[in-house]
Amino acid sequence: MKSFAVLAAATLAVASPIAKREAGGLLLCTGANSTGTCEYRVYPLDECFNITTPFAGNTNTFAPDGEAFYCYPYGMPCGGLCTSPEGCTLGAVRFDSPVKYNLSSVGWQGVASFECHSAASTTVVEESAKRSD
Ligand SMILES: *[C@@H]1O[C@H](CO)[C@@H](O)[C@H](O)[C@H]1NC(C)=O
Ligand SMILES: *[C@@H]1O[C@H](CO)[C@@H](O)[C@H](O)[C@H]1NC(C)=O
Ligand SMILES: *[C@@H]1O[C@H](CO)[C@@H](O)[C@H](O)[C@H]1NC(C)=O
Repeated sequence: MKSFAVLAAATLAVASPIAKREAGGLLLCTGANSTGTCEYRVYPLDECFNITTPFAGNTNTFAPDGEAFYCYPYGMPCGGLCTSPEGCTLGAVRFDSPVKYNLSSVGWQGVASFECHSAASTTVVEESAKRSD
């Protein structure tokens, strides 16, 4: 985790020229490492999207396509109640998160929904996510 602050700082530095970006491109695939059935779409930021067929219960690649935003996978559908004591999100997944090519490696292939945010608040969110454990 030591390297994280460095990555976050680098992200902020490159984010400024495109700070007005209001959408995030995300690649979903049923297989790890961009295999299986894939769908690439650009999603509005700060809005929840349910994971639907064929990805429901089988999302292995979850890959944001740029540094200016990050996406939070959630274990419950949009608007659903968080009932898990471990928390209901895997945490921020970014362009440079290795886990994006294999959610199974952390047991998150069953992601039910997601929401993407501008990278401007990355550091703050990451810290609060850690403290809530
Ligand atoms: C993903 O595919 C690339 C190219 O085939 C390969 O080099 C890499 O090792 C693969 N990564 C994983 C996690 O399978
Ligand atoms: C997501 O799924 C839940 C549960 O099926 C539903 O109540 C909600 O309206 C859906 N939200 C969106 C944005 O699709
Ligand atoms: C993804 O992770 C799962 C569970 O750890 C593993 O079995 C599988 O081989 C991984 N796939 C790739 C392409 O690395």
